[in-house]
Amino acid sequence: MSGIEELLANNVKWRNEKERAHPGFFQKLATQQKPRFLWIGCADSRVPANEIVDLPPGEVFVHRNIANLVVHSDLNCLSVLDFAINTLEISDVIVCGHYGCGGVAAALTTEPTISLVEHWVRHVRDIAKFYRDEINKQPCDLTKARRLCEINVAVQVVHVRENPLMEDACKKREIRVHGLIYDVADGLLHNLTHTVEDLRAHVPSRGIGGV
Ligand code: CO
Repeated sequence: MSGIEELLANNVKWRNEKERAHPGFFQKLATQQKPRFLWIGCADSRVPANEIVDLPPGEVFVHRNIANLVVHSDLNCLSVLDFAINTLEISDVIVCGHYGCGGVAAALTTEPTISLVEHWVRHVRDIAKFYRDEINKQPCDLTKARRLCEINVAVQVVHVRENPLMEDACKKREIRVHGLIYDVADGLLHNLTHTVEDLRAHVPSRGIGGV
């Protein structure tokens, strides 16, 4: 069986099991999309949004890119954010990073490569430069990379919170923004609320560097 044939066979099996457990599941979903969460995560294949929080189709609106970035001029991400908060009216935005992120690790290498990905990773390099002192408190390269994964999530959370679309939507109703980090080594998610608030305490809102 070829790769695609295997996927199609898997799909039929999955669909039939879902329909058996929840009769009418797909018909109900076809009539409306009303997810509770917007998930902004890394494109890494080991961090599938719905699966790691055990939520079925229809519950999570998802945007993923390398290193889970919310770049101020990224029309893709901003369109997703706009649609999620203003049309779907989701109640919670989740920025989810993960330990072992290749995009974050690339930002700590000293020799930039001449590639398209390097241009994207430069956003994380900027964060690494800005929080150099915090990262250098870590004892080894592994823990430095882990700390940058956390800081990166915190910065992206602030990018979401301070986005003009978001600020405008929050005048009308409460929308919570959360920073989470996933450990690919044990499958557990951790809340980074404290990291977000700690970093904010050191740098004025809208300061250079993001947080
Ligand atoms: Co990653």
